[in-house]
Amino acid sequence: MKVQPQPDRIIIFDTTLRDGEQSPGATLNVEEKLTIARQLARLGVDVIEAGFPFASPGDFEAVQKIAQTVGTEQGPVICGLARATRQDIQTAAEALKPAAHGRIHTFIATSDIHLKHKLKKSRSEVLAIAEEMVGYAKSLIDDVEFSPEDAGRSEPEFLYQVLERAIAAGATTINIPDTVGYTVPSEFGALIRGIKENVPNIDQAIISVHGHNDLGLAVANFLESVKHGARQLECTINGIGERAGNAALEELVMALHVRRQYFNPFLGRPADSEASLTNIDTRQIYKTSRLVSNLTGMLVQPNKAIVGANAFAHESGIHQDGVLKNKLTYEIMDAQSIGLTDNQIVLGKHSGRNAFRTRLKELGFELSDQDLNKAFVRFKELADKKKEISDWDLEAIVNDEIQQA
Ligand code: KIV
Ligand code: ZN
Repeated sequence: MKVQPQPDRIIIFDTTLRDGEQSPGATLNVEEKLTIARQLARLGVDVIEAGFPFASPGDFEAVQKIAQTVGTEQGPVICGLARATRQDIQTAAEALKPAAHGRIHTFIATSDIHLKHKLKKSRSEVLAIAEEMVGYAKSLIDDVEFSPEDAGRSEPEFLYQVLERAIAAGATTINIPDTVGYTVPSEFGALIRGIKENVPNIDQAIISVHGHNDLGLAVANFLESVKHGARQLECTINGIGERAGNAALEELVMALHVRRQYFNPFLGRPADSEASLTNIDTRQIYKTSRLVSNLTGMLVQPNKAIVGANAFAHESGIHQDGVLKNKLTYEIMDAQSIGLTDNQIVLGKHSGRNAFRTRLKELGFELSDQDLNKAFVRFKELADKKKEISDWDLEAIVNDEIQQA
């Protein structure tokens, strides 16, 4: 699916496989990346940032394979990251060739701290590089995204100039990164408003936001930016990523879903519209979260919003009593909306193949007969050792035995 400027909905750009994989210890192999990319497509993300092709041969191969298999005509846009250099951009274009809809995402830092200590370049040099490299990317591919790295700490007037030149050179998405998670929501919202008001050709591009969670504010910053014109959100499953991570996809999507009537007017929709603000199939969220956690080895904290083990659990007597009388007393969203069920069947050594298959299906795993047989043997072995088999055990069986076979 090709992304066009569509200001009345929010584009979800998933960077689990690029920025998410930059989490310490979260390395994924090519097959694992493909498995996640397929699931991201089922989840309904609009853009998959599949990797940084120049970074390593493994990243190149992963981007190329995802472009080949997931980047179909009806599938998501497949994006590859590139620094603002000819080699990076050329390598990304090569890896993206098989995609029906490919995008090059090129970036260069614009904050004085980065210019002085990292790039050792002047503002006018950075301006010229940004313009030239966006133009070069545009000569290789139609869909070009440009990011001024560390925009959150960049001087606004300089930022406006860089963005204007990048758009004039062909960028159709301009992404505003809060690279070090420094801004607070009112500031970040004002930054987006300033860009909308001061970059003369801004209407020719989609405004995107990208942010890290160093102060735990990434999701709040993004929601504020939507109110001021951001229409693409860059995020990761379970919020994984550099340091404290990136904005979490599941939190953004469910905030926009549960509170859509609050956000509708900012997108020019009637306040009472029930229409979804994103293309995400929210019922795929839980399964995607578990898959990413299992394959990256990054555990999800129990009290994590939306996908944590306690997110829908009620412990205190008062809360349990309220929920039993009416769920709305203490629940603002339905567990089923993220793909969980209220199913109380407990699996153990007496359970049969049918109950096993049904539970796996509820968890989002549809196995071939052959794979189901293999998984069922493992399940019975485990059930001899453990009284109750949890959903986590079932996922581990499927992921270990089947997906890595
Ligand atoms: O955090 C950041 O600034 C990035 C850019 C490459 C967009 O990840
Ligand atoms: Zn980042």
